[in-house]
Order: sequence, then C-alpha cells, then structure tokens
Amino acid sequence: MIIYTDDPSGTEPAQLRGFFEGWPDPPSPMTHLRLLRASDAIMLAKEAPGGQVVGFATAITDGVLTGYIPLLEVLPSHQGRGIGSELIERLLRKLDHLYMIDLLCDPDLQPFYERLGMRRATGMMMRNYGRQSGGKCHVTDPGMTSPVAVPSDSLGSGCVAGDQK
Ligand SMILES: CC(C)(COP(=O)(O)OP(=O)(O)OC[C@H]1O[C@@H](n2cnc3c(N)ncnc32)[C@H](O)[C@@H]1OP(=O)(O)O)[C@@H](O)C(=O)NCCC(=O)NCCS
Repeated sequence: MIIYTDDPSGTEPAQLRGFFEGWPDPPSPMTHLRLLRASDAIMLAKEAPGGQVVGFATAITDGVLTGYIPLLEVLPSHQGRGIGSELIERLLRKLDHLYMIDLLCDPDLQPFYERLGMRRATGMMMRNYGRQSGGKCHVTDPGMTSPVAVPSDSLGSGCVAGDQK
C-alpha cells in the first residue's frame, strides 16, 4: 500500500535511499532529508507508515504569487504505477492559491505534465556542478554565484537534463 504525506517528520535518512538516480554527485540521504524539511511544501509517497519513501516532490514558494517545483522523483522500482502523477496532483492542490507555478523539465516529460494540467513553456537555468550534492552549500561562498554552462554531452532524462550524467 502506498501512502501519501506532506509531513517529513518521522522520516529517517535510511528511508530515503535510492534517489537522485543518474546524478554524478547526488545528495546524501541526510541532505535529502534536509531539503525536504526546508522546502515550503512537499509530498512523499511511502510504502507504509514508517516504510521506505518511494517517491517525492518538493515546492518552494513566496506564499503570495509564485511557486516552483524543483524536484520530482519516483524510485525506478515503483515507476509507471501512477505515483509520480499522484505526487504532482497533490502538490499542485497545495499550491492552488498561487498565481504561477513553474517547473523545468525535458521535452519528453512535457506530455506527462500536460496530462496533469500544466502548459508548455520555455525557461532558463544555471547549475553550479560543484554544489550538486548540496553538502557544503554556503550562500556567502562565491562559488554559488558562478554560472556554469551545461555541457552538451551531459544531457539525459531528468527534471532538467543538466542535472544528470
Ligand atoms: C517522471 C517520473 C517522476 C514519473 O513517475 P511515475 O510514477 O512513473 O509516473 P506515473 O506512473 O504517474 O506516469 C507515468 C507516465 O509518465 C511517462 N514518463 C515517465 N518518465 C518519462 C520520460 N522520461 N519521458 C517520457 N515519458 C515519461 C510514462 O511514459 C508514463 O506514461 P503512460 O502512463 O502514458 O505510460 C519518474 O519516471 C521519475 O522519477 N523519473 C526520473 C526523475 C525525473 O525525470 N523526474 C522528473 C523531474 S521534471
């Protein structure tokens, strides 16, 4: 049975193994838990209360007009069962008081999001690859402000191609 929750409390790092598949320098389960706690809204899919997290989505928002969905992932073992759609539907409901809700995705995933009521758009992005694991991130660090071009040979599937190998 899959249960959905918007509350990260009670989730342990050990329940967050297996995510960020294909990322060269993935966040650790502890860092994953930190970002879940720090997000303005999240949705988790768990196998059972206290069980493994099999999918998650996060949102950040100013709480007034805008929201952004940076991350959505379902473990490969659980993909294709409607969990990703359910996570986004539930997260969008939590954000439905906002004017604009944006995310970046590769073109092959646009039909997935269209089925959930979103529209195609173009966007821009920046990636500081040295910070991909999220482990040593300090806003005062000059490295955070340096844009890094997305290497054309790094494209793959993911929220945005440049996140992956
Ligand atoms: C995208 C993702 C979250 C979907 O989760 P899921 O639980 O498998 O989604 P659902 O079961 O609700 O929907 C599956 C549908 O999404 C489509 N889909 C999933 N990944 C896709 C991809 N990379 N390209 C095209 N379609 C894709 C499937 O073809 C399927 O369509 P169908 O129902 O017509 O067969 C999951 O594949 C995943 O974690 N991928 C890796 C990380 C990622 O790409 N995240 C998206 C960030 S923008």
